[in-house]
Amino acid sequence: MKKLSFILTFVILFSCVKLKADEGMWLPIFLERLNYTDMQEMGLQLTPEEIYSVNNASLKDAIVGLANSPTPQGFFCTAEIVSPEGLMFTNHHCGYGQIQEHSTTDHDYLADGFWAMNKSEELPNEGLTASVLYRMEDVTDSIIPMLSDTLSGSDRSSKIKEITSRLKKDASEDGKYNVVIKSFFSGNEYYMFVYEVYKDVRLVGAPPSSIGKFGGDTDNWMWPRHTGDFAIFRIYTAPDGSPAEYSDENIPLKPKHFLPINLAPVKQNEFSMIWGFPGGTERNLTSSGIEFKVNDFYPPIVEVFGKKLEVWKDHMSADQEVKIKYASDYAGIANAWKLFIGQDKGIKDLDLYNEKNAFEVEFQLWVEADSNRNEKYGEVLEIINKSNSDMSNGYSTLIYASISGSGGADLIGYAGKFGALKSFMEKYKEEKDKKKKETKKKKLDKEVDKLKGMSVEHFENYDMFTDEDVFAVMTKMYFDEIPSDMHPALLTKLVDKFKGDFSKIAAYVFEKSNFSSESKVESFLAKPTLKALGKDPAFILANEFRASLMAASQKVSRGGDDTKTAERLYVEGIMEMQPNKKFYPDANSTLRFTYGEVLDYYPRDAVHFDYITHLSGVMDKENPDSDEFIVPEKLKELYASQDYGIYGEDGKMVVCYLSNNDITGGNSGSPVMNAKGELKGIAFDGNWEAMSSDIAFEPDLQRTIVVDIHYVLFIMDKYAGAGHLVDELTINR
Ligand code: ARG
Repeated sequence: MKKLSFILTFVILFSCVKLKADEGMWLPIFLERLNYTDMQEMGLQLTPEEIYSVNNASLKDAIVGLANSPTPQGFFCTAEIVSPEGLMFTNHHCGYGQIQEHSTTDHDYLADGFWAMNKSEELPNEGLTASVLYRMEDVTDSIIPMLSDTLSGSDRSSKIKEITSRLKKDASEDGKYNVVIKSFFSGNEYYMFVYEVYKDVRLVGAPPSSIGKFGGDTDNWMWPRHTGDFAIFRIYTAPDGSPAEYSDENIPLKPKHFLPINLAPVKQNEFSMIWGFPGGTERNLTSSGIEFKVNDFYPPIVEVFGKKLEVWKDHMSADQEVKIKYASDYAGIANAWKLFIGQDKGIKDLDLYNEKNAFEVEFQLWVEADSNRNEKYGEVLEIINKSNSDMSNGYSTLIYASISGSGGADLIGYAGKFGALKSFMEKYKEEKDKKKKETKKKKLDKEVDKLKGMSVEHFENYDMFTDEDVFAVMTKMYFDEIPSDMHPALLTKLVDKFKGDFSKIAAYVFEKSNFSSESKVESFLAKPTLKALGKDPAFILANEFRASLMAASQKVSRGGDDTKTAERLYVEGIMEMQPNKKFYPDANSTLRFTYGEVLDYYPRDAVHFDYITHLSGVMDKENPDSDEFIVPEKLKELYASQDYGIYGEDGKMVVCYLSNNDITGGNSGSPVMNAKGELKGIAFDGNWEAMSSDIAFEPDLQRTIVVDIHYVLFIMDKYAGAGHLVDELTINR
C-alpha cells in the first residue's frame, strides 16, 4: 500500500469545511502539538503519553518495521506485536518471501499454509529484521544553521554527512541502537530515529494462498475485497532480552507493549488509526513531474514487466516446482506492474496534471506579489520544470537498458557477478614475485569460495528453461528499443548469425555459457580459467549490457544542485504561503500515524461501495477453474455450518473493511486500531480509484483496505486449529 498528497489546492478549497482528518502521515513527536485535539474530537481515548513516550511503555513500542539485513531501516512492511511473548501480525504478502523460502514441492506452505503447533516448530528466517523505534528527535537545528547558502551541492552534502555521522554515532550508544537521520520537506528539516533491531524473527503461521492471497492479481489493488492477507511471526531475543542473531538459546521477546484485540463489530464512521512505515510519496510533485511520469516512466516499465510476467506465468502454470521458485518474484513484479498501470490511469482520470498546474499558477501569483518572495522563489518552478523536461531525453532508453538488458534474464545478472573473479585471476597470472603470488592466490581462492556459496543460493530459485525464454523475450525488446549505436557488439553479431531469431540466440547463449546450470558453474569453479571466462557469451553480454546501461545513464540529465535547491525552496514557499496550515512530510520509510474513520465510498456515477465484505462474498467469487479464486474445502464447510465461534456476528463472518486512512507501500501489515489503541484489523492495500494517491490525496475516493481481525482469528482458530496462538492474545469486546 502506498500514500501521498495534493495538499494544497485541497486545503485552500476546503479550509472552511470541517476537515475530517483522513489525509496526512504524521510524525509521532508532533502528535500532541499538531493532531491531538483533532484526534480527541474524533473520539480518541488515549493520552499522548499512552501513544508515544520514550520513558514509559506506549503504543509505539508495539509497532515494528520489517526489513532485510544489511539495511534494517529499509522497511518493506510493517508488523505489530500482539502478545506478551513477542507474537507479531503482518500481511501474508509481507511474509510471502519467507513462506516461499520454506516451501518445496513436498511441503508447499504457499499452497497449503503453515502453522507451528508449538514454539519449537517456528521457522527462522535468515536476514529478516524487526525494528522497534526507541525514540526520535528533531535535529534540524544541529544541521541547517551549519549550511551556508553559498555551499555547492556536493559541499552541502558532505557537510550534512559529517554532522549526521557524528549525531548518529553519539545516539547509537556503542552500537546498541541503529540510528537513521533523514531529510524531510525536501531538505528543509532533519529528524533522527533510534531503533532497536531484532534479528531472530521466526515464521509462526500463514494461511494457504487460497485465503491469504484470495483473488490474486485480479483483485489486487481493488475493492470489494475478500482476502485473508495476514501472516504471523515471532520475535526472539537473547536470554537477557537484548536483540540477538538466531540461536537455540534465544527466548521469545518480552515487549514493552503489545496491542490488545477488540472484537466489537466494526461500524461505519468509527475512529480508525493506523501506525506504520509508509515508504514514499511525492505530494508536491509538479505538473511537469506528472508529465514526465506519464510520458517517459510508466510506459516502458509497464511494457517490460508485462512481458516478463507473461513468460514467467507460462512456466509457472506448467510446473509446480517452477511455480514455487518464482512465486515471490512474480508477486512483487505483478504488484508493481498493476500499481504503475493504476497510477497512470489515476493521474489521467483525476486530471492531476491540471490540478497541480492550477496550484502552480496560484503559487506563482503569490510569489510575484512581493519582491522579496520573487527574489527567493521566483525561478523555482521554472528550474524544476526544466529539469523534468531535460530528464525526459533518453529516459526510456535507460529503463530498457536497465530492466530488459542488465536486469532482464537472471543469467545476465548472475554472470556479471564473476567480474571480480576475472580481475583476481588476471592479477594472479601477472604476478612474478613468488611471495606476492601466494597472497594473490589466497585472494583468488577466497573469491572462488564466495562464488560457490552464491551459486547454491542463486540456483535455489532458478529454472533454466524459464530463464532462457525470459532472455529471448527481454533481449529482443532491448534490441528493438535501444538506439542501434548502443547495441552491444556480441549481441549484434548473434542477431546477424541467427537472423534475428531470439529463441535461437537464447538457446546458443544458454548452451555455451558456464553459468546457466548449477553443475556447469560447479565444474567451472573447480578449475576456473581466464580463457573460459573470456569466451563465455553470458559473461561478455553481462559486461556489454552494463556498459550500455552506464552510457544510457550518462545521457540522462538528473538536474544539478540548482534543481535540488529549487525543490527545497518550492516546499519552503508552499509552507510560507499557507502559514495556518498543518503540514505533514512526504513518506520516507519512517514511523508515521494516520487517523480517520471507517468509511464506504462512491467509486463512480450510480455505484456505491459498502465499507465491509463477508465470507458469503468469498463464496460468490469462488471459481475452481481459476487458481486465484479457489476456496479451500475446509473453509466451505465452516461457511456451510456457519461455524464461526466467537468471531461471527448474526450468522455472518466479516472478511475485510475500509477506512479513509492515508497510507502507502510500506504500510502493508500495519495495525488498524480503534479509539483505545486496540487492534481491529491489518491494513493491506489501497483501492483502484485512488491509485495516484502517492501524488495527490483524494478524500472522496481514497481508502485503505483492511483485513478484519475477526477473520484473522477465525482462520487461526477455526480453520487452522491454532487456538494456542489465539490464547496468547488479549481479547477485549
Ligand atoms: N497491493 C498490495 C500492496 O502493495 C499487495 C497485495 C498483494 N496481493 C496480491 N494479490 N499481489 O501492498
